[in-house]
Amino acid sequence: MTKAEIGLIGLGVMGSGLALNIAEKGYPVAVYNRTSARTGAFFGSAGELRGNIVPCASLRELVAQIRPPRPVLLMVQAGKAVDEQIRGLREFLAEGDMIVDGGNANFRDTMRRFDELEGSGITFIGMGVSGGAVGARHGPSIMVGGSREAWRRVEPILTAIAARYRGEPCSAWLGEGGAGHFVKTIHNGIEYADMQMIAEIYGILRDGFTMPAAAIGALFAKWNGGPLDSYLVEITAEVLATADPKSGKPLVDMILDRAGQKGTGRWAAIEAQMMGVPATAIEAAVAARSLSAEKGLRGRAAAAYGGRAAPAAGPPDDAFIDDLEMALFAGKIAAYAQGFTVMEEASCEFRWDLPMATIARIWRAGCIIRSQFLDALARARDTDPDAEHLLLTRDFAAMMGKAHPSLRRVVAHAALAGLPVPALSAALGYFDAFRQARGTANLIQAQRDFFGAHGFERVDGEGLHHGPWTPQEQAQG
Ligand code: 6PG
Repeated sequence: MTKAEIGLIGLGVMGSGLALNIAEKGYPVAVYNRTSARTGAFFGSAGELRGNIVPCASLRELVAQIRPPRPVLLMVQAGKAVDEQIRGLREFLAEGDMIVDGGNANFRDTMRRFDELEGSGITFIGMGVSGGAVGARHGPSIMVGGSREAWRRVEPILTAIAARYRGEPCSAWLGEGGAGHFVKTIHNGIEYADMQMIAEIYGILRDGFTMPAAAIGALFAKWNGGPLDSYLVEITAEVLATADPKSGKPLVDMILDRAGQKGTGRWAAIEAQMMGVPATAIEAAVAARSLSAEKGLRGRAAAAYGGRAAPAAGPPDDAFIDDLEMALFAGKIAAYAQGFTVMEEASCEFRWDLPMATIARIWRAGCIIRSQFLDALARARDTDPDAEHLLLTRDFAAMMGKAHPSLRRVVAHAALAGLPVPALSAALGYFDAFRQARGTANLIQAQRDFFGAHGFERVDGEGLHHGPWTPQEQAQG
């Protein structure tokens, strides 16, 4: 067999899917996994693609099987394992070879790895990959960070394996250094917000109207034909329609209400905070997952405070159902506007020059947040490239103008019924503060100046002023 065009380390769900995807696109791929049993099992199940796969028992063998200059794709767990593999590979790789980290790395680790490999002759790429198991196997969304020259070298393979939206590949070079992993982190932050807001709408119907899972699923299936058309809404409909083979009940009703998280959503919220960009819908979604994990505490609090208002006597009327759909859409608009603003700020701070419309385009297919909406977002950015905020583009202003009254009614309904909607209400609060020309921070400034003489600006003049607040200060003039 001819030498492999690329190596891949880590045959977990994402790694094995990507390896098969690469082999299927006609690129011979050498694969290695720390436990060789997994390599054997993977190769054994690769069927006719085996002709394009070279299973390797060691890093030395993997490197020897790749045609130089060698690209090696790391698909191992983010964190320590990536550093260990890089250390191991450095023993065998030669000048001009390349390591591509395709895991969910923290972009700050990615930037450190760029620094550590500087001058080693080995090129590095930090690559965000989204799409779960099916995406990896049949076409993920690929977000690349590193030098443009490095991207050009792997572009043919990455373009071949990426998802396609109306023929356009969902892979792109986004900027130097940690750009790819940063964008993936914000993707995940938005993913958290999308999922949380969907769950909040589900909660209103389940607990506010005692609607059964299948009926809620049917609503999501219907909404998937409108502005909410997206992978997450589609799978929500399927999830809610699935029965538990063991109990016969809806499977979702048998699942414990305690959500896991691996950290990317939290990183998105942390980075937003570090840059001083409000990403309240994302923050609320991360916090909601953390509170969900406190199952025992919530049970005790429910006993201490009693239940919420009794569910409505009948099903929701059509107008309220329409409101739920548009509320979710309005929340989505706010969450994406926040996520894109975080990326815009990071683009300046880290000098990445992130291409916002391209990011929206490569998220239209393959990734977990894929949707029609992202096509609209890309167009909004294209038509109004100079708009200082996504919510100030003509398209978004029109969409939000139409949708926010529904968000208001739904949040108000939930608040009065005692149903938690933290992400939807964060989105509404953000929107209302965003469009308030005269806010209430004049009082914050007054308080800061009162207790700490921090100074304030006046509406009728220049400069920094202080008080007078106390009778003594007043007397001094
Ligand atoms: C993707 C996903 C994926 C992520 C899972 C789980 O884009 O394919 O974002 O990368 O690992 O969604 O993330 P949590 O465990 O944090 O929910």
